[in-house]
Amino acid sequence: MQIPRLHPDTIEEVKQRADIVDVVSEYVVLRKRGKDFVGLCPFHDEKSPSFTVSQTKQMYYCFGCQAGGNAIKFVMEVGKRSFADVVLDLARRYQVPVQTLEPEQRQELQRQLSLREQLYEILASTAQFYQHVLRQSQGQKAIQYLRSDRQLHEATIQQFGLGYAPPGWETLSRYLIDSKHYPAQLVEKAGLIKPRKEGGGYYDVFRDRLMIPIRDVQGRVIGFGGRTLTDEQPKYLNSPETELFSKGKTLFALDQAKAGISQFDQVVVVEGYFDAIALHAAGINNAVASLGTALSIEQVKLVLRYTESKKLVLNFDADQAGTNATERAIGEIAQLAYKGEVQMKILNIPDGKDADEYLHSHTLEDYQQLLANAPLWLNWQIQQIIKNRDLREATDFQQVTQQIVKLLKNIENNDTRNYYVSYCAEILSLGDTRLIPLRIENLLTQIVPQSDVSLLRLNKSASAKRGGNGRKTAPSPISNEPNLLEQAEALLLRIYLHCPEQRPTILAALEERDLQFSLSHHRFLWQQIIQISVKMEVDLVSNLQDIYPEFPEEMGLVSHLFHLSEKMQKDILRTPHVVQAAIACMERVLREKRYRHFLELWQATDPDTEPERWQSYYNAFYAEKMRLQELDKQRHFSITDLISS
Ligand code: UTP
Ligand code: MN
Repeated sequence: MQIPRLHPDTIEEVKQRADIVDVVSEYVVLRKRGKDFVGLCPFHDEKSPSFTVSQTKQMYYCFGCQAGGNAIKFVMEVGKRSFADVVLDLARRYQVPVQTLEPEQRQELQRQLSLREQLYEILASTAQFYQHVLRQSQGQKAIQYLRSDRQLHEATIQQFGLGYAPPGWETLSRYLIDSKHYPAQLVEKAGLIKPRKEGGGYYDVFRDRLMIPIRDVQGRVIGFGGRTLTDEQPKYLNSPETELFSKGKTLFALDQAKAGISQFDQVVVVEGYFDAIALHAAGINNAVASLGTALSIEQVKLVLRYTESKKLVLNFDADQAGTNATERAIGEIAQLAYKGEVQMKILNIPDGKDADEYLHSHTLEDYQQLLANAPLWLNWQIQQIIKNRDLREATDFQQVTQQIVKLLKNIENNDTRNYYVSYCAEILSLGDTRLIPLRIENLLTQIVPQSDVSLLRLNKSASAKRGGNGRKTAPSPISNEPNLLEQAEALLLRIYLHCPEQRPTILAALEERDLQFSLSHHRFLWQQIIQISVKMEVDLVSNLQDIYPEFPEEMGLVSHLFHLSEKMQKDILRTPHVVQAAIACMERVLREKRYRHFLELWQATDPDTEPERWQSYYNAFYAEKMRLQELDKQRHFSITDLISS
């Protein structure tokens, strides 16, 4: 079909109805921040979110790459699609009647739209039909099964609209085509009947099965799962992929669960239809089922819209198949999880039970306890790695170490990674705490890119000095360590005093970056240095010593800088980067202050009343943040070895 010229009213209404947060959430995990939502920009590669979506303005904007626009523009850019194509698609999804400027095209579009509408109608009629049959004598066996085998109450059977497909070959098709006069092609398109190979006509897809309607987020029936009541294979027969139903993009019971997910700020994902149903029946109404496939990233993003802190508990079966499914699901979600975009926990019910079986013999509180105690996914993975291994065996030890290294390598957040390094080091030490530092060292050298190792060492030695036992290895930024700042400043002053050839570099760096010494006695010394230097080319140190009697107090605090041990002299000469490292350390302190300052201003500004101010504060703190990240790279160079000598 030729690209239609859409009526301006249609475009306007699409803009009104298609909420930008909803639209963007399909592609980006969004978090609420203040009035707005933020996430990782889909248009450029980034590790901290600079992509902002404003619900009040119905606009998105990326402070990193300057991409921005409304919902339509977003879908166009992200999918490289044309304007008309996107508007039509959004119109369909948000039930906006489409008008075009040419009448023939309007007809064609209406026909397409009404196709979907009719499919919904057919599926809704079918669900009613199955529900009705469940209450007839034909459905006796099925309702009995629900009540006794599944222990379901009437209310739950109603809530999920459960039904029964009778055994005949043409019961449904006769009902829909002959009585309700739906065109056979449409019923086929809905995935309910199939054409006979010979002799013409159609036969029912679902026969003699317990029928579970699958609904979209808005509660419309889009397909069915049908469970056999005998030993017939497959155990569950599902609707084929249709215009309305796509298995990998749907989560069973999400329509029922979305309110509960928001309320508990957490979603429980199970494997089976009946696991979800049983959980809802027990009062856990934030449960959804993945329809037996490995959880896809689309499904995860779909459900994360409803939880603010992105908490997801994966409760798959604990048997081998379930564990494999869990591994596959983790594999799918890992890219989100490693970035910290989803807080995932893994719940394996004891004795290999699924949620449904478990609830037959346990209470709601028991299940809630399990939920609360479920390990984080990384801990679960570590458990899987060491399961059935004997770490005293050389081969097992080596293999386990390799797998752990592989696992921890991908963690992007330094604090998290270091936490797990010491956690695993402890496991690998088999209770001998003296071995922990060695194991940490060993893991670190394999995990961390070489340039980072010195930084970790630096922090480790700092915590050791504080009397730590080496367990807490999470690096705190240098700026949080007043000691290190003091040492960096002192080092810079010392180099200035003793290495005349470095003076121009230091002067230039301080001036360029507009840096000041933070400690008052350092500032004092710097003033003296500047005054003397202005006068003439002289021996700085001896001149400074001359003013000692005048300012005994201040000079007393800095006089140690006038001396240079032999070792220190060698070290300074040996390390040309040391000036840069010390300056980076000082600049970091300044930048951090400014970052906080602008962040506070930004948070205190109302984007609606003062959009320009809001924007400029954002730009300012974002620029500071970027600079901080750059400085963190520079300061990876270890200065402690020098300072401590
Ligand atoms: P399970 O085999 O674990 O089923 O499949 P279950 O939920 O424990 O089944 P019950 O308790 O015996 O009734 C989990 C999910 O995998 C999908 C279904 O969505 C099912 O709920 N599945 C399973 C299929 O789609 N087809 C199958 O043949 C089996
Ligand atoms: Mn089951």
